[in-house]
Amino acid sequence: MRDAGILKNSAVAVSNGRIAAIGGAREVERAFTDAEIIDCRGGVLTPGLVDSHTHAVFGKPRFEEQELRAEGHDYMEIAARGGGIHSSVRDFRERTEDELYELAMPRLRSLASYGTTTVEIKSGYGLSVDDELKALRVIGRLAASTPMRVVATWLGAHEIPHEYRTSPARRAKFLELLINDLLPKVREQGVARFADVFCEPGVFTIAETRGILKAARKSGLGLKIHADELEPCGGAELAASLGAISADHLAAISEAGISALSRSTTVATLLPGTMLFLGKTKQAPARALIDAGAAVALATDFNPGTSPTVNFPLMLTLGVSQLRMSVAEVLVAATVNGAGALGLAAETGQIAPGFSADLALFQVSDARELPYWYGARLCVGTWKAGAPCHPYETGSKLNARPPEAPSPG
Ligand code: NIG
Ligand code: FE
Repeated sequence: MRDAGILKNSAVAVSNGRIAAIGGAREVERAFTDAEIIDCRGGVLTPGLVDSHTHAVFGKPRFEEQELRAEGHDYMEIAARGGGIHSSVRDFRERTEDELYELAMPRLRSLASYGTTTVEIKSGYGLSVDDELKALRVIGRLAASTPMRVVATWLGAHEIPHEYRTSPARRAKFLELLINDLLPKVREQGVARFADVFCEPGVFTIAETRGILKAARKSGLGLKIHADELEPCGGAELAASLGAISADHLAAISEAGISALSRSTTVATLLPGTMLFLGKTKQAPARALIDAGAAVALATDFNPGTSPTVNFPLMLTLGVSQLRMSVAEVLVAATVNGAGALGLAAETGQIAPGFSADLALFQVSDARELPYWYGARLCVGTWKAGAPCHPYETGSKLNARPPEAPSPG
């Protein structure tokens, strides 16, 4: 992660949607004389950012909870009173598939406008057989109609609905519904690539998470866990022992968890925007994880409750300023390792021959400016497999310095 492989005065050749060559500008131009030339005018070209953790399909926003937290009511307390995920679930169930699709599409365009070309989207606001399948169908429709690369994750185990919290027997019924009724349909319909569980004291226990994920693995899904977000409970250790592709959040990971991840192939996906927005002073121990040898990815966790932002470069800022990562480390975390967290490490996340031509162009002249101009939208173009995703204005002056105060939004 210490070397992001940054090159200067370079050109990238793209053919049939793939990177054909990368090297000195003159040399590449000489080798591809017939090519259409896109002049990046001294900007910084990165692999398209890979946002490997979002909940982008939801109905209403939940701005009322932000002030409640400021008054001292924390996330879990708000959830226990029927807010939080429960509130999004009530709203989600009342909306049609078309409505949810229409709400999500502009959010994907906003994600792309900040440099993201690959986005993972989780279900998890339906929590019934029909509503979870509805969420996954919406994600499938988005995948088919956006130029971005979309990866679907089934998060049926995002919360235990109130109607199943009344007794241990009812709780067991919900687990049965997830494993015996919903999961087979998710498999039959081929609507998800990964399964995820919110494993946290007060939500799903370690034993429940293990049961759900083992069943998901039998159904052919890759595994992810919302692990050790607020309190440590062994989620990271479980992710490593199950061979999960990623363990996400980890702000409360234990020493044993760090050690387990460092000895595994599980990617540690850190979501610093969530801790910032929840008003927590604690962030995931990125330094300890990286220094122990774990692969660390960064993602937005874009969702209506804990991280309502589409600004991936802001996560790079938090990575450097809050998690004490280097610029090279945050760049690798947002590209190569994000792709690894989605099983796409051989396809996207690198500008190297053979990889999909997924690219993002930023109006800065030094890669260190990406985390530096915090909150700004400096991306001027993205491409997925060589096709434009977010428009690149060929007339824009990329070789000019960024304005004194980059315009937000
Ligand atoms: O990743 N932690 C659980 N799930 C989401 C939050 C979802 C919500 O509050 O709506 C997260 O932070
Ligand atoms: Fe999440």
